Amino acid sequence: MIIRHLELTNFRNYASASIALTDGVTAIIGDNGQGKTNLVEALSYLATLKSFRGVPTDVMIKTGENTAIVRAIIIHSDGREVLIEAELSRTGRSKILVNKQKLAKTRDLLGVVRTTVFSPQDLDLVQDSPSVRREFIDDALVAVWTKNDALCSEVERVLKQRNALLKQSNGRLTPDIATTLDVWDEKLVLHGTQLGDMRARLLELLLPQTQDAYIELAELSQAQAPIHMLYAPQWRTDGLAPSLRHSRDNDIRRGSSTVGPHRDDIELSINNLPARTHASQGEQRTLALALRLAVHRLVTAEVGSPPVLILDDVLSELDPHRSAALLRHFPQGQVLITSAGVLPQTAHPDTLVHIAGGTIREA
Ligand SMILES: Nc1ncnc2c1ncn2[C@@H]1O[C@H](COP(=O)(O)OP(=O)(O)O)[C@@H](O)[C@H]1O
Ligand SMILES: [Mg+2]
Repeated sequence: MIIRHLELTNFRNYASASIALTDGVTAIIGDNGQGKTNLVEALSYLATLKSFRGVPTDVMIKTGENTAIVRAIIIHSDGREVLIEAELSRTGRSKILVNKQKLAKTRDLLGVVRTTVFSPQDLDLVQDSPSVRREFIDDALVAVWTKNDALCSEVERVLKQRNALLKQSNGRLTPDIATTLDVWDEKLVLHGTQLGDMRARLLELLLPQTQDAYIELAELSQAQAPIHMLYAPQWRTDGLAPSLRHSRDNDIRRGSSTVGPHRDDIELSINNLPARTHASQGEQRTLALALRLAVHRLVTAEVGSPPVLILDDVLSELDPHRSAALLRHFPQGQVLITSAGVLPQTAHPDTLVHIAGGTIREA
């Protein structure tokens, strides 16, 4: 799948802009604050229905406007053309049209456009709190097997209801509260266990890919296996049902769910030391890149063609050696690279695009 055309209306700092894209490598060049990240954010919105910067939808709508439109023409590997139109709204849900037909559910768009985004924020994957790693793994679950989106939303919904009930209990476990809690616990056990199983299964597939990617990016010898990922929450060992029973009093007291998939972490280590606390920044950066690259390759293998690859301002952060290694190890496909400066020689852009103040100039 490649993106042939992208058109933005009132998206971030773009009043109205359009760009024709080719396969191969497109370099998007411009000073800071001109709209490079905004452009690729719009593209990846079509893939995930959210911002890769982790902001709510309304932030992506141009200040002073009520709606933004992202329109794209994509071409599948079999030559089929698809027109996608997304209308982001400040007040309601986004509306999606595919070939001018409105989708019954916005989420049905998932899987039509696929992107892999690398950004300097990826370092957070290694350095930040468990929630960043949970989001990474759940996003990867949806990227690899789209139907997991429904599972993730269901777990989120059940937890929201359960937490609302716990708050409402005001710290007292009355018979009424207990009965309703039983209902939510049953649902949480069902879907939460499934989510835990899916995460574990994905991590099993991702581990060798991540190890390989790390070795390639760090240019180590194949004999070394410095990366480990551990996903072993206690509730998966004990079972979620007994764990919830055990934590019930505590949950009531605190007014929130203290045990479950929403509290999990994935422990990353390099050379058997925790990466978050012990690795150098260079190693952390390489691990973050390796994780993204691993997902990219897994999706490519599962889907049969590579997602559109977006490198947002990451090459400037890497030494020339490492950025060359990164570019060398990508599967073929459409690539967009943004940069505020000149690109490294190894990037070999086929097309150059200049961005200034929300206008796009194709060179
Ligand atoms: N919702 C919005 N409405 C209007 N302008 C916005 C909006 N969101 C961000 N901007 C502007 O976009 C610019 C940043 O664009 P960005 O794509 O992040 O720059 P860069 O080219 O450095 O990647 C900032 O100047 C910011 O003020
Ligand atoms: Mg940027």
